[in-house]
Amino acid sequence: MQIVSDITELRELRRTWQSSKQQIAFVPTMGNLHNGHLKLVKEAKKHASKVVVSIFVNPLQFGPDEDLDAYPRTIDDDKTSLAALGVDVLFMPRVSDIYSRGLEQQTFVEVPGLSYMICGASRPGHFRGVATIVCKLFNMVQPNMAFFGEKDFQQLQVIKAMVTDLSMNLTIHGVPTEREPDGLAMSSRNSYLNQEQRKIAPALYKLICEMADEIRGGRRDFSILMQEHKEKLASLGFKPDYIDIRSANSLLQPSHEDKALVILGAGFLGKTRIIDNVQLVIE
Ligand code: PAF
Repeated sequence: MQIVSDITELRELRRTWQSSKQQIAFVPTMGNLHNGHLKLVKEAKKHASKVVVSIFVNPLQFGPDEDLDAYPRTIDDDKTSLAALGVDVLFMPRVSDIYSRGLEQQTFVEVPGLSYMICGASRPGHFRGVATIVCKLFNMVQPNMAFFGEKDFQQLQVIKAMVTDLSMNLTIHGVPTEREPDGLAMSSRNSYLNQEQRKIAPALYKLICEMADEIRGGRRDFSILMQEHKEKLASLGFKPDYIDIRSANSLLQPSHEDKALVILGAGFLGKTRIIDNVQLVIE
């Protein structure tokens, strides 16, 4: 596995691969890799002859009171895991190269609408930061395809919308969420949880699954269902952020015609924000 920090060096490699007509798959990450990330890499390998993974903790997507400095960095372990999976290039750009004119002056990419709702309402500017870095990384790596986890369902929709709106020439693949044996979605932020919080954490997924079962069983009083489960989440020790039922295609409030739904939830355990979602199709 080649480790590259320099954008020029990456572009040089990209040129050689392109001349031999290789398909390039890209997995952008912020490091602290867990099995969820490794699943993205394995999927990428199935689809392309060259796989590039990036590790870049993107300051532009963290709010002023968020965990940019505390974000777990485990670069040696990450390198070992990626090399073992046969990744071709690990791209680790420097903040000063990515944001060479400073964060304040940075041109940004914003996907309106989708970026302001649900998680975007609680984390203003977050999806602007995500769309901007992903667009920049796409411009550097120029992949034929890129892989993202469905755990960050809204992020996946924002990126798909950006790719469509800006006529980007690549395919976006969503990969199902990888879970711990008790159902908790794998996330780098799980490492912030203390023992007691870790025990409570899987309840968010359980509640969302319960809601999905109730909807499959015929319940359509969505606002009452959401309110009930938000209260349940609070009674279990979470500080709920939202529990929402949306159209899986548009992320808007579902209309009677919407058959593909997604239930999304977010809540705090102490300072740690846990998010999850379940997709379902109704008759
Ligand atoms: O999902 C993440 O880890 C990040 O939001 C991403 C897509 C790598 C952009 O920084």
